[in-house]
Amino acid sequence: MSGEEAAALIQPGDQIGMSGFTGSGYPKVVPMALARRVADAHLCGQKFKVNVFTGASTGPELDGALAMSGAMDLRMPYQSDPITRKLINAGEIQYIDLHLSHAAQLVEYGFLGKLDLAIIEVTAILEDGRVIPSTSLGNNQTYIECADKIILEVNSTQPMELEGLHDIYYGLGLPPFRDPIPLTSPSQRIGVPHLTIPIDKVIAVVHTDVPDRASPFKAPDENSKRIAAHIMDFLSWEVKKGRIPPSLLPLQSGVGNIANAVLYGLEEGPFQDLTAYTEVIQDGLINLMRSGKMLSASATSFSLSPEGVADIMPHIGEYRDRIVLRAQEISNHPGIIRRLGVIAMNGMIEADIYGNVNSTHIMGSTIMNGIGGSGDFARNGFVSIFMAPSTAQRGTISTIVPMVSHVDHTEHDVSVVVTEQGLADLRGLSPTQRAKLIIETCSHPDYRPALRDYESRASKLSMGKHTPHMLTESLSWHSRYLRCGRMLSQDRDSSCE
Ligand code: COA
Repeated sequence: MSGEEAAALIQPGDQIGMSGFTGSGYPKVVPMALARRVADAHLCGQKFKVNVFTGASTGPELDGALAMSGAMDLRMPYQSDPITRKLINAGEIQYIDLHLSHAAQLVEYGFLGKLDLAIIEVTAILEDGRVIPSTSLGNNQTYIECADKIILEVNSTQPMELEGLHDIYYGLGLPPFRDPIPLTSPSQRIGVPHLTIPIDKVIAVVHTDVPDRASPFKAPDENSKRIAAHIMDFLSWEVKKGRIPPSLLPLQSGVGNIANAVLYGLEEGPFQDLTAYTEVIQDGLINLMRSGKMLSASATSFSLSPEGVADIMPHIGEYRDRIVLRAQEISNHPGIIRRLGVIAMNGMIEADIYGNVNSTHIMGSTIMNGIGGSGDFARNGFVSIFMAPSTAQRGTISTIVPMVSHVDHTEHDVSVVVTEQGLADLRGLSPTQRAKLIIETCSHPDYRPALRDYESRASKLSMGKHTPHMLTESLSWHSRYLRCGRMLSQDRDSSCE
């Protein structure tokens, strides 16, 4: 049926699980038709809102359209859409920002209430009823199992060659009846390649020919290249010390331009026979596979630039033996990440001098995207690296601060902090040792005197000497140095004090 006819089957107040992860494999026609229906209802003074669950971020046809029409009451577990973000920060959309490995099980446990509907993009429905998934797997099989009703969007722009790339291992079961997941290497297949659809629940099948909206990557800038170079040196050192093999351990690389730049750094680095156990397949990973440096990659989704899509998707079948797409509760599973010894590399908004990391909030209260999978990997990785330029907003803000304005990753889960200034290896260091190292190695020279001053006064005046702080001052740092930073960018000689 048409998108309009399918959207007419959605009720106000419905809780809907949709496909989609990092702008891949999300439904397009039905959400856009739903947005139009909601906008019309609102014009007539009727209240029409739904709760939207996905795998992770989607595209303008889903998040953008639904947010703009005022359709979303609640959103979970991740978003990166500018309109949705604005409405969340205005308090108009409730947002549950979750570890991505948790989303499926929270639905299965019933913690989030009943799922009324699943809207899932697929590549094709075969004659025997088996269904080829699209460019992401995310929470699709869980939403299909848990929802009362299902709408399938069949996207004819997704290549049939995707068949065989997915590995759907579903049915972890509920505690205390869970078995070990039999996955011991990144490329291993333990499930089936097709989605299982209970046919009696399907209320609509809709055709889509709208492609995924791929986001372009910025070419790596000087700072990203320097961050990548520091990480290459660190990995070489770890190999030299015999702590990791020359082919490294499975790599996880987060979202964003710096993460992609690190993958380009690996391209030029000395390491061979790499593997990835990660969340998304970005352009950088494909390049590593193409050059032969990387043997195989496991993820839950593609997240390619437009050039990457045009380049790789027509030949994706050639990668069937080397790329595996899994459900996100498996791609991000804490037990598997720890078993494989994944090297986790994620972007951050800021880190404090003791190694706590904020990945999600600007100035402590404004959400950027969400924690995504960074916590799944950081908490359980063999080594957990967080990276950012030492300043943001054209040098007006230090990303190294006395106390982070919001904590996503505690000091206990962060092994390495790296900026373009340098890399601080925090393993085996006490809080006061970490503070000195982070300030001297990672902070920008414009902000280093102020951070040194804070650290030295806190070490004398703080009541406790284990993690010395002057709370009032640390909490006011963000507003003081935002102002100060602006002064600095106009007049580099101005005093911070
Ligand atoms: N204060 C204020 N603004 C800051 C800031 C800070 N400390 N740090 C970054 N920003 C701003 C940047 O200036 C930029 O703003 P702009 O869009 O106006 O230019 C924006 O935040 C994004 O920063 P950028 O340096 O381009 O980030 P990125 O693309 O490397 O992404 C994160 C960094 C932290 C936003 C991103 O990695 C993220 O969302 N992480 C959480 C989820 C995650 O890690 N997922 C991976 C798991 S597998």
